[in-house]
Amino acid sequence: MKNPPPFHIPANGLPHQTILAQLAAKKSGDANWRSGRIWSMVYFVNDAHLHLMEEASKLFLSENQLNPLAFQSLLNIERELVGMAAGLLHGDEATTGVFTSGGTESIMLALYAYRELARRQKRFGSGALEIVVPQSIHPVFEKAAHLLDLKVRKAPVGADFQADPKAIEKLITRRTILLAASAPTYPHGVLDPIEDIAAIARKHRLPLHIDACLGGFMLPWVERLGYPVAPWDFRVPEVTSISADWHKFGYGIKGASVILYRDMALMRNQFFVSTDWSGGIYASRALMGSRSGSTLAAAWAAVYALGETGYLDLARQLMEGCQKLRNLLETLPEIEVLGNPCMSALAYRTKQGKPDLFILAEAMESRSWFLDRQHLPDSIHLTLMPHHLPHLDAYINDLKAVLLTLKDQPAQLSENAAFYGLAARIPFRNLVKREVLRMLESMHTAPAEKDSVKKQLSWKSETSEAKTDAALEKPAGWKTRLIQRLLYFWSYKKF
Ligand SMILES: Cc1ncc(COP(=O)(O)O)c(C=O)c1O
Repeated sequence: MKNPPPFHIPANGLPHQTILAQLAAKKSGDANWRSGRIWSMVYFVNDAHLHLMEEASKLFLSENQLNPLAFQSLLNIERELVGMAAGLLHGDEATTGVFTSGGTESIMLALYAYRELARRQKRFGSGALEIVVPQSIHPVFEKAAHLLDLKVRKAPVGADFQADPKAIEKLITRRTILLAASAPTYPHGVLDPIEDIAAIARKHRLPLHIDACLGGFMLPWVERLGYPVAPWDFRVPEVTSISADWHKFGYGIKGASVILYRDMALMRNQFFVSTDWSGGIYASRALMGSRSGSTLAAAWAAVYALGETGYLDLARQLMEGCQKLRNLLETLPEIEVLGNPCMSALAYRTKQGKPDLFILAEAMESRSWFLDRQHLPDSIHLTLMPHHLPHLDAYINDLKAVLLTLKDQPAQLSENAAFYGLAARIPFRNLVKREVLRMLESMHTAPAEKDSVKKQLSWKSETSEAKTDAALEKPAGWKTRLIQRLLYFWSYKKF
């Protein structure tokens, strides 16, 4: 007989204080983002702002975004937020949009709307419709395309990590329905040449989506502060839609983004209505169903708390911090910044890969920094937030110390560094994909089941409990494991 699942609902409820204490205790092993030693994922202004977010969220915790007719307040807040975003990004009175749960939903909706539009237009023949994007675009485009049965054609980026308009044009076919580009890209923080891509969109009569999830609520302030920012928003006439996240540099809480369209003729393609359900007419403007009103309320509170002066002040601090960080990085002879970052996100790497970046990353982690490793090419990503600013010198000092140590005594390659190196560099991407899929399975496999398959370990889990990705229903065959081991040792040699 199979074992029961490992968790069950407690027979009786616990006192609220106990529950809150238990929840707080659960966080003890998490990355300590407040320390300023983790450089992504948390967009934090200060404690007063966080407190406001908590209070604003509480006010709308139970209200449901599902039905804006029942909760008019939420529709009004949404209209205000959409209007403000449209104004900031130089839309006009026709510009419209919806509040969504995040960049992923905004981008999925855009792709869905363009696919529906293309199907209605019936000018693309049969077979999979295509979108053309730069290689550097966020992977959610690939995910959305996968779900929507679209084909993604990825154009290589230039040596400066910006999209290459010529490479994009080469990939346009009869079946292309959309071009997209980033403002800026997440990995390197570079702004794609939107006007040049727009010219191609015009020539081929294609819509152009700009993914400004990262920069939508930052670049306008950066530009106003006088930093060079090439036109990328609705001022470029060919730009037909923009995704921008309130939960990043809008400083709302997680679960807040907006998808904006130049006009309703585009946006209506993302609406969905079912008329024959016994529960009544079901009308949906976005992907999600029921959702707390908290995310809307918090985004609204963030805008009114900061106002233009607040956003400008934060942008100024971050840009100055980023410039300082960049200057400090560039004083290190072994380090180079990738491309020309346009705001407060950047990536750096070691010149000619010396010392190896993944060894360096591990050495930094032993000094309690949490590093975002990237690949293709290998680099380390940093997105600056106000709470990082006091730690810039400490970061660079540790980086200097690590570089010095690695120069004097080349480090022993740990399994961890080898793993990252291997995952980043081996040409057999399907192998990497399979390993990561195993890791995902492992995360969602009950401990008891994990134990039962633990003996059939894959190539790297025998020595590391943390990497026990052996929770496979079908463990790798001997041939795959042999190849994996060979590659593992090959990567050792290479370092
Ligand atoms: C440029 C860009 N696009 C899309 C996304 C996806 O957004 P989310 O994680 O909110 O779904 C991100 C997230 O970092 C991003 O930086």
